[in-house]
Amino acid sequence: MTRKDQVAAAFSAATTTYEAAARAQAISADHLAAMVAALPRPPQTRVLEFGCGTGLLTRRLLPLIAGDWLITDLSAAMLESARQLAPRSRFQVMDAEAPELAGQRFDLIVSNLAAQWFSDLGAAINRLTALLAPGGHLVFSTLGAQSFRQWREAHQSLGLPCGIPDFPSRAALQNILPAARIDEQLFTLAYENGRAFAAELKRIGAGTPAPGHRPLKVADMRTVLQRLGQPAAITYDVLHVVIGPR
Ligand SMILES: C[S@@+](CC[C@H](N)C(=O)[O-])C[C@H]1O[C@@H](n2cnc3c(N)ncnc32)[C@H](O)[C@@H]1O
Repeated sequence: MTRKDQVAAAFSAATTTYEAAARAQAISADHLAAMVAALPRPPQTRVLEFGCGTGLLTRRLLPLIAGDWLITDLSAAMLESARQLAPRSRFQVMDAEAPELAGQRFDLIVSNLAAQWFSDLGAAINRLTALLAPGGHLVFSTLGAQSFRQWREAHQSLGLPCGIPDFPSRAALQNILPAARIDEQLFTLAYENGRAFAAELKRIGAGTPAPGHRPLKVADMRTVLQRLGQPAAITYDVLHVVIGPR
């Protein structure tokens, strides 16, 4: 099984538990939807959404944007759960890093918190940008370097490897995507303890570890959880990106 298959399987398995657990994704979707609403667009907009999940962003944008929607996700089960939101739209299982969209162009490409799963963020975003029609916008959010800072620090302070992948800082993302306008959103969520945080990641399907990471021994994980303390505060650092004309 490739890592991408693992990511898709983990999200597919989380379809029914996702919405109740996706607190951070909902906060980010609100922010991103407000940014999209402020952009100019033609009356009949051609929209591509990638990594739709159960449709947290889709349902915020559908009432705002009339047009032709193509809604996509790597996970067939996630896509299926979003289908009921917009029965008249087109749906496609698609790896957004390798879009199969022969000759199609879009006025708006949107995505909330899916791009952090890309294996090469810069190359993928450049390929997606090439799908924009003249005057079009690509608007997406992804996780930034400070996300899960307390979880990483608990591992580091014990000399243990952390399974959460590294994410780019705002400055690093700006280097990767020089034409992007980036808005950083920082917030903290409270958890009963570290175990509750790890369980929430699993319930949203985000449990696939960084490439090459080997799970910690049970005793080591217990020490990490103790180091994190309870209640546990966990930082989310969301980078909201706009590419396209002002
Ligand atoms: C954290 S969820 C976010 C879902 C939704 N956008 C939301 O705001 O709730 C991440 C989604 O990205 C999808 N995903 C991960 N890698 C992807 C890829 N390479 N191409 C398309 N979708 C991907 C997953 O299947 C999952 O549905």
